[in-house]
Amino acid sequence: MLDKPFCKLAMLLCVLLFAWMPLAWADDSLSIVYSGNLDGELEPCGCSAEGNFGGIKRRATLLQQLREATPDLLVVSAGGLLSTDGPGDRLKGDYIFKGFVLLNYDAVGVQWRDLAYGPDFAASASLPWVLSNSGARKDAEKTPFSASRLISRGKQRIRFFSWLDAADSPLQKMQGQHSLVDASPKKFHAALQRAKKDGELTVVGTTLSSKQFAEQIGLDNIDVLIEGAAYEVYGEARKENHTLVVQPGSRGMRLGRLDLTLRAGRIVDWQHTVLPMPNSIADAPHMQAWYDEYNAAVKADYLQRVEARKKQESGKSPFVGEGVCQTCHEKQHKIWFDSQHAIAYEDLEDVNKAFDPACIQCHTVGFDQPGGFFDMNVTGHLLGVQCESCHGAGRAHVETAGSKALPNADWTKEKICAQCHTQPHSPGFDFNRYWLKIAH
Ligand code: HEC
Ligand code: HEC
Ligand code: HEC
Ligand code: HEC
Repeated sequence: MLDKPFCKLAMLLCVLLFAWMPLAWADDSLSIVYSGNLDGELEPCGCSAEGNFGGIKRRATLLQQLREATPDLLVVSAGGLLSTDGPGDRLKGDYIFKGFVLLNYDAVGVQWRDLAYGPDFAASASLPWVLSNSGARKDAEKTPFSASRLISRGKQRIRFFSWLDAADSPLQKMQGQHSLVDASPKKFHAALQRAKKDGELTVVGTTLSSKQFAEQIGLDNIDVLIEGAAYEVYGEARKENHTLVVQPGSRGMRLGRLDLTLRAGRIVDWQHTVLPMPNSIADAPHMQAWYDEYNAAVKADYLQRVEARKKQESGKSPFVGEGVCQTCHEKQHKIWFDSQHAIAYEDLEDVNKAFDPACIQCHTVGFDQPGGFFDMNVTGHLLGVQCESCHGAGRAHVETAGSKALPNADWTKEKICAQCHTQPHSPGFDFNRYWLKIAH
């Protein structure tokens, strides 16, 4: 026996339930392939079976297969593509960027190692770079990186961010370069909040650990945090409060995959898989032209080095290096040796810039001139600002036991300094004060 009010209530409940049900069933899915820290591993060296994982050509094949199976796949990298350990690394870096362009990533975070050859070097590769806390650059140019990237996949809108840790900057010691990043998370917080309000899924890449990130910046409004890589192996995916935290492995040996179940813009379930790239994954044929070009460039670079060394060893270089000047000018040498000029190259190494031609030119002897500084291995006797940086190439002077004057003998002192003590690099330069510090 049903009375009328109860019937009405039941009907109302039914209506409500039906109206609500589609919402409850509206779980959506999203698959993300993520990576980070290629660390300059364009390809595995193949020296051992255990280490034979990864490489850009295999990655291209794997990504192609994954995209064919899951057309709405999102592919992002936390960045860290380059290494800067040796003279060939800049050339390799150039090809890593070019190779990554062919992989069609949806977003790539900017890490300090990606900036090792200057922001313009990275920006010249047309990669979907993201740097969410960039500051104003010293030359008042806008930074060339996007603050975030919005990517649509099916019904989902995903916004990728990348946080660069200011405290980790190798440029800390350099005047004016601090402004490359903004250490304050204020703008970043606002952007995250806006993204969540607009119903976007937020993904953040960083080199910090999730613990450091939570302490320094906070995890509010972050759905997925790709924390800093620690080792070759990927970490376990885990929830920290509302944030799903994943940790890529280093050296580009594997890829991580997240299959997410989403409800109303929130992650309600996830599956995490790590995809290794052993040599059973074939190299992608469409990467072959890129790879051939890279090998040709490496060979040309090597031959150039051999030529430079031959020139040095046959004694044809007009530069001799400070050690030779010392034999006759001990007094001047002693004063020079104790000056900042003598450690100018070490200071470049300290800021990870010892391979950047834009810096080397003033921190070595005769860079880019015939027989001048070429690299650490071939021309290790021409490091730093030496006698010949100021007096000019000294071979003829030496071979005539001092009777032939040095090339810059008729230059004024001021003109000598002005080669390097320019306004942008030495804003406080005052000849009288500076000369006193190095007078010999
Ligand atoms: C074999 C000995 C010897 C060596 C090696 C030598 N010099 Fe001299 N240098 C002399 C003598 C001797 C004089 C004095 C010449 C004179 O007064 O006419 C001189 C004079 C100079 C002068 C002042 C006159 C001028 O030409 O400007 C400079 C500067 C100088 N040397 C720099 C250098 C530098 C730099 C090197 C290394 C690249 C070097 N010397 C290596 C012997 C040497
Ligand atoms: C035009 C010449 C020139 C170029 C190019 C140049 N530098 Fe310098 N650099 C200088 C001079 C000059 C000083 C000394 C400034 C002073 O004390 O007044 C200096 C100083 C430095 C110092 C020492 C700062 C300290 O406090 O001890 C570092 C580090 C440095 N430069 C790094 C770089 C890097 C990195 C680049 C490339 C991005 C670069 N330099 C490019 C001329 C140059
Ligand atoms: C930063 C630039 C600079 C460097 C580095 C430098 N010199 Fe000089 N040197 C000068 C200038 C400038 C003078 C003075 C020239 C003048 O008086 O017009 C000078 C003068 C000299 C003189 C002549 C001294 C005299 O008593 O008249 C000698 C010799 C000399 N330098 C040798 C050397 C040697 C050897 C080295 C390396 C160990 C060296 N210099 C490094 C800039 C430099
Ligand atoms: C080939 C480039 C070059 C030339 C030429 C040059 N400098 Fe330098 N100078 C440098 C660099 C680079 C540094 C920074 C070295 C470092 O600390 O790493 C420097 C640093 C100095 C410093 C130390 C600054 C400090 O804060 O204590 C003095 C002083 C100085 N130079 C004086 C002079 C004078 C004077 C002349 C001209 C006679 C001169 N330099 C010519 C490149 C040059």
